[in-house]
Amino acid sequence: MKKPTVRTEIIRVNSKRPDYHIIRKASRLICNGEIVAFPTETVYGLGANALDPSSVSKIFKIKGRHSDNPLIVHIDDMNNLKKLVMEIPPSANKIINKFWPGPITLVFKKSESVPDITTGGLNTVAIRMPRNNVVLALIKMSGLPIAAPSANISGRPSPTKAKHVKDDLDGKIKLILDGGTAEIGIESTVIDVTQQIPIILRPGGISKESIENEIGKVRFHDSLLGLENSKHTKNRSPGMKYRHCSPNAQVILVEGPTNKARNKIIELTERLKIENKRVCVMTTSKSLKINAERIQYMGKRFETIGRNLFSNLREADSHKIDVILVQGIQHKKIGFAIMNRLKKAASKSIRV
Ligand code: TXA
Ligand code: MG
Repeated sequence: MKKPTVRTEIIRVNSKRPDYHIIRKASRLICNGEIVAFPTETVYGLGANALDPSSVSKIFKIKGRHSDNPLIVHIDDMNNLKKLVMEIPPSANKIINKFWPGPITLVFKKSESVPDITTGGLNTVAIRMPRNNVVLALIKMSGLPIAAPSANISGRPSPTKAKHVKDDLDGKIKLILDGGTAEIGIESTVIDVTQQIPIILRPGGISKESIENEIGKVRFHDSLLGLENSKHTKNRSPGMKYRHCSPNAQVILVEGPTNKARNKIIELTERLKIENKRVCVMTTSKSLKINAERIQYMGKRFETIGRNLFSNLREADSHKIDVILVQGIQHKKIGFAIMNRLKKAASKSIRV
């Protein structure tokens, strides 16, 4: 195994009232072109000075991320936004007024100040103002917009705890700020506001229904509706074409009415046991009796299921599970984002 080259320090920080000295330490690293991992309300981020190509290039290297996959730029106030974009369309203003700081990222036409490497060569830039005092304080003290993808190795489930970041990036970065478990657990919604009717490129922490309540009609990108091969597949979010959220275990998603899905999961578990496979079942049914190595209860409410989703997938790996059978949920509200991540994690989906 390759020896780690850097000592990775984890510092616990109060997520409501972050300690000045800790934030100063992190902001010095950012200002010196280094990389820092920090909590946000969605998932942990891996941040660098968004305006400096050499700092940003380190993020791609550390994550093993493809250079055509643009990063989200995190800001702490509206003056920063104006410097980074060509224009702020009216629909964007409405979304910002309602949901920022919060789990929604807007795609704008970019200004000259944003380097090409940050946007994967696109002439648009994705921006969000996160709702977490640690990252907000870090941006403020650094005086810089911070480019940050999720702080995982590309293809792994996004980290929702500092420990997940360490599991993936130990020896690769100097500092992880530990602000506890991420409140939402699913990444932000990415919405393209350069279009007449805004297009959701990635479902996430704010649902389509909530956005439509504020601004009227928005669309899901075709790729999210299984219309990949239709003629309108331009303007997609480049990151969505990569497989994501995958634990080491094979994931099989079982969708359908609760009783039928449960029965299918029981049947599959029996079959896999005969093949000597270690099975973990992730279910929304508390009372499911099943002869699996592990049963992980996902919760009932979308918020709970979302908060624990990536953590549950990583947990199964730590128990050396071969196959994770996941019970699907409804595709509405945040359930749509949860199902999107599960479909990406799954090598197989079964509908009953
Ligand atoms: O909640 C989040 O958004 C987290 C936290 C850390 O803020 N960040 C995150 O970043 O999930 P990442 O890099 O894992 O995902 C960013 C997504 C990718 O699908 C990427 O392709 C898309 O946003 N994206 C970024 N810039 C874009 C642009 N200019 N146009 C279209 N999609 C863009
Ligand atoms: Mg990611």
